[in-house]
Amino acid sequence: MNTEFQIFPDAASTAAGKVDALYLFMVVLSAVLSVFVAGLVTYLAIRYRRANNVNREHVDHGNTIEYIAMAISFPILMGIFLWGAKVCFFLFRAPEQAMPITVVAKQWMWKFQHADGRREIDTLHIPTGQPVKLTMVSQDVIHSFFVPAFRTKQDVLPGRYTSVWFEATQPGEYRLYCAEYCGTNHSRMIGKVIVQSPEDFARWMAGDAASDEPPAETGRNLFEQYQCGTCHRPANEEGARGPTLEGLFQSRVPLAGGQTVVADETYMRESILRPAQKQVAGYQQIMPTYEGQVSEEGVMHLIAYIKTLGAPAATKPAAAPAPGSPAATEPAAPATEPTVDTPTAAPATEDNAANESEGNAP
Ligand code: CUA
Repeated sequence: MNTEFQIFPDAASTAAGKVDALYLFMVVLSAVLSVFVAGLVTYLAIRYRRANNVNREHVDHGNTIEYIAMAISFPILMGIFLWGAKVCFFLFRAPEQAMPITVVAKQWMWKFQHADGRREIDTLHIPTGQPVKLTMVSQDVIHSFFVPAFRTKQDVLPGRYTSVWFEATQPGEYRLYCAEYCGTNHSRMIGKVIVQSPEDFARWMAGDAASDEPPAETGRNLFEQYQCGTCHRPANEEGARGPTLEGLFQSRVPLAGGQTVVADETYMRESILRPAQKQVAGYQQIMPTYEGQVSEEGVMHLIAYIKTLGAPAATKPAAAPAPGSPAATEPAAPATEPTVDTPTAAPATEDNAANESEGNAP
């Protein structure tokens, strides 16, 4: 990292060029306008100075000057808006294949965990050329994840997941800051992002990966420890007291109030900690609240495990055929042993829904 004075921080992500271009455009535009206005002020002050004998008679131009000013500024300002919106969409829409990393912030440190279980504190290793998506939550107050070299910043909140993604382009070490005042040692809540070539990163990941358990594995142990499976049974079992969790992630969940909700990470987190908030249609609210009992990391581990209970991709084809068609009457896959990343292990949601309603028929 260059420690000398720099006007711009290092540009080390795919977003950097886009953000810089927009920023530079606005700086140059402001500079041109400032010079124009200052020049006009100077010119008119000299031309119409008291000693100068010029015609000071009022000439009525109507609104012509205003119209010209609007005709010029409107497209420029709309252009900046559209350009900014485009960059904004780029910054906030993570690519599908982004590598997932979870982040738990607390006073005053950053805790990272990679998909294979690898944990880090205040240091994050990532490879170049690979989009990375961070799912973040705070254990206490509001923090903000800021890596200037990536031109990206996102608040990290207690009680709600936020996410940020980036794709690093340049190997190196980059500063990570907390950009939201969060107490006495806020200024020390700094870390670094170490960007490595894919080969170096693979070597690093292989290092002592055995020491850290994969999140889904930890989640499965928690699931057993809290005996979640007593009520949340496999999809093909009838009479379960809770909805099945197979194929839950990214599926649409019907709620008691008649609405539906997409089962994303935020929904799953809320349903673990405060299940009464969104009651699933067809079920009694009998699940206890786990707020204060499961740590934020524990919740992330449980979610990682629940995600392995069937993939959402399998729900899409099942939604197409009409009821009674051969595809719709296919028996549900047994899915007794949850397997990681096996779309075929997920029974169709329609089957789940059918079982749920049958299981609850009086
Ligand atoms: Cu964390 Cu400031």
